Parts: sequence; structure tokens; C-alpha cells
Amino acid sequence: MIVAMRRAVLGMLAVAGAVCAADLAETARTYQRMCAQCHGADGDGLFYENIVPLAGIARRYPAETIGRLSGAFSGRTLQGEELTRMVAYMATLRGEKGFAEPGWIASPYFVEKKAPRLGEVKILDVRPPAAFDTAHVPNAFNVEQGACIEPPERTQAWLRAQRIGSGALVIAVDEHGGPDAACLWWRLRRAGHQWVAVMDGGMRRYRNERLPLEGRGAPVPLAEPMLLARAFLNERGFLPHTELAHAAREQGFAPGTSRRWAGSEPDLAHLILTLSLLGREIHYDEAEGRVVLGPALR
Ligand code: HEC
Repeated sequence: MIVAMRRAVLGMLAVAGAVCAADLAETARTYQRMCAQCHGADGDGLFYENIVPLAGIARRYPAETIGRLSGAFSGRTLQGEELTRMVAYMATLRGEKGFAEPGWIASPYFVEKKAPRLGEVKILDVRPPAAFDTAHVPNAFNVEQGACIEPPERTQAWLRAQRIGSGALVIAVDEHGGPDAACLWWRLRRAGHQWVAVMDGGMRRYRNERLPLEGRGAPVPLAEPMLLARAFLNERGFLPHTELAHAAREQGFAPGTSRRWAGSEPDLAHLILTLSLLGREIHYDEAEGRVVLGPALR
């Protein structure tokens, strides 16, 4: 029991670890008083024009960047202790779908808001070039998906070749927020790139939300993803937390189990993303070809 708790704490974002519970509770009140009217109680309030979702933000940028970005509308730039506490509090926000770790995905709205700012964010679209050329998120780059399980040094060299620095937030885009984007997400995570998310719902949801596109013609929908991924997705991307946890269990991925993996690498990457959103510990034993599921971390 104590071991499980220790692991749970270690698994949480490092920023949250530095702040004690009383400070976190006080910061929660500050957030509700000063920030929630625009950003929403769960960090994904979008009822106000131009709001950027905050849930998952601690997985998107380092604390200094969050401090700088928060200045524009809150009326004051958070610094020092106050910033540390607010970042820790924001790391607990679960977003509109209630995920334990909402920072592993980004909504199309967020991606579109960030698309013009190439310095902070790199949008990497792994769809086939023909689909990309027809219609894509403004300022996105079309890249080859590559192998999901690749030696980290090769991925690091690839990132350098793409001019993606270690501080850049990478958003992986495919048609459905499915295995293809998850493959790139996992590849980067395995190579130690800290800031990476999958666009939730992919280009299908992006188009459905009628966000601006760039390209030569009318968008063409692509085929549905594989069966397992389909159990976790709907046209708005990942199912909300409770339903997703249920679906994962139904598919045989309950906490504390271990299974041989016989599917494809992109499907495995998508499963790992799914369980990561749920705050589950998951490990892939490459030598044994087994998926090992630990306890829930959050
Ligand atoms: C009056 C509404 C309003 C209030 C109150 C407000 N914000 Fe914001 N905030 C915004 C808007 C609008 C943006 C998007 C600005 C932009 O275009 O980059 C934003 C952006 C941010 C960002 C950057 C997110 C990103 O990914 O770029 C952070 C961080 C942030 N706010 C934190 C806070 C915090 C913390 C508080 C409370 C102390 C707060 N905000 C209060 C409206 C508000």
C-alpha cells in the first residue's frame, strides 16, 4: 500500500510535488476567484472568446513560460512561489473530459489558436502527403510517421533535422487522433522529448468544428482507425474519462494485468496514450513483447 502511494506521488508531475496540500487548497481558491470566470472551473472553459484551455498545461510548457503566458489577461504576471503554486494547481485540472492527465492531448481549438505561433508550437501532421496537401492546419508540417519503437538517438537526430528544440511543444496530428498520431507521440516520449500531445479527434474533429484550413482543395475523409482504437474514440476524439476507463477494462486492460501484445506498433502506441490519459502506469516490455499495466497514478 505504502509502495503504491509512493509510486503515485512520484508519477505525478514534479511541480505538484513541491507544493503542500494547504498551499494547493489556498491556490485553488485563488484560481476560482481570479481565473475560473474565464478559464472555467475544470480549466477547459470555452464560453469566453479566445480562451485557451489550461487543463494539461504543465505538460505543455515549463513553469517560466506559463508565467509569461499567464500575464496577458489575468492582469498580473505570476512569479516565484505564487507561480509555482498556480502551476501545481493547474496540473490538477482535469479538463472537459475529466482526464487524470489531459496534457497528453490538445483540442483542435487549442491547436488552431496556437498554430500561428511557430516559435512555441510545432504541429506535425503524419497523414499521407496527398491528404495533407488538400487541407491541413495552418502552419502544420507534413512528416513521415516513422517507426514508433525506434532507438531514441535516431529520434533525437530526426528532431534536430526538423529543427525542433527540446523546449518546443509538438502536436501530433492525424485523421482521428488515433494510432498514427499516437505513434509519433510515443516515439517522441521514448526519446525523452517532454512536450508532446496528440490533437484530440484529429482532422475529422478539426473539420467538424469548422476551424480554418490551409491547402489546395476540399478535405477528403480518411478511413477509420483499427478496431481497438475505435473502442476508445468517437467523432469528438477520446471518450470522456469514465467511459474511456470502462472501455479499457472491457478490452481487457484492467489495472494490474499483463498481456502479450500481438497487434501493430501504432495500435500499441494508441493504447499507451489511452492509459496515460487515464493516469495509469503502463510499461511495454520490448524483450518479452508484453504490455504490463500498473496501478492508477492519479
Ligand atoms: C478576463 C479573462 C481571463 C482571466 C480572468 C484570466 N485569463 Fe488567462 N487567458 C485569457 C485569455 C483570453 C488567454 C489567451 C491569450 C492568448 O491569446 O494567448 C489566456 C491565456 C492564459 C494562459 C496561456 C495559455 C496558453 O496555452 O497559451 C495562461 C497560463 C493563463 N491564461 C493563466 C491564467 C491564470 C493563472 C489566471 C488567474 C490568475 C488567468 N489566466 C486569468 C483570459 C483570462
